[in-house]
Amino acid sequence: MPDYDPTERLYQEHVQILAAIDQFRAQLEQKGNQNEIMHEIIPEILRFFRQYADQYHHAKEESELFPMLIDCENWVAADITQEMIDQHELFRGYTRDVEAAYEKSDYTECVKILLRYTNQLKDHIAVEDNELFPMVLDIFAEEELEKLYFKFDDVDRAFGQSQVDTLLQIPDKLSD
Ligand SMILES: [Fe+2]
Ligand SMILES: [Fe+2]
Repeated sequence: MPDYDPTERLYQEHVQILAAIDQFRAQLEQKGNQNEIMHEIIPEILRFFRQYADQYHHAKEESELFPMLIDCENWVAADITQEMIDQHELFRGYTRDVEAAYEKSDYTECVKILLRYTNQLKDHIAVEDNELFPMVLDIFAEEELEKLYFKFDDVDRAFGQSQVDTLLQIPDKLSD
């Protein structure tokens, strides 16, 4: 294991996202037919996925890690990476679809899409954790990994720790 492991940081963010998914799914499954509650919580769920999962986490993968993998001349890694990029796009589409259904007050549709989305996001995370990240540690030299680790620091600083903390409180807030 390198001293500065950038994949460990992404892995820890996955842990947060997976915990949030479990909490959100419990709410959606138990209270999905209560319109007033759905009206309140769906915008918060969307905020978590758009800001934490996408702007904070996926952006780090897309802006720093994935370009290295596409260029690394390992076609298996490049292939999986392209699949991950396509899935990020698909996930963005889901959040737009949820928003459109929410604007029509079609909460049943919102719940349906969110359950599908979170299921697919869990699979996506499993592929990154179990297939892609081990390849990253295999392919790149320690100094490249270290460089990537510190690039992640820059991204995190730009995003702001207080913003991260606020977003991570959303799941508990909704489960009260
Ligand atoms: Fe990803
Ligand atoms: Fe990820």
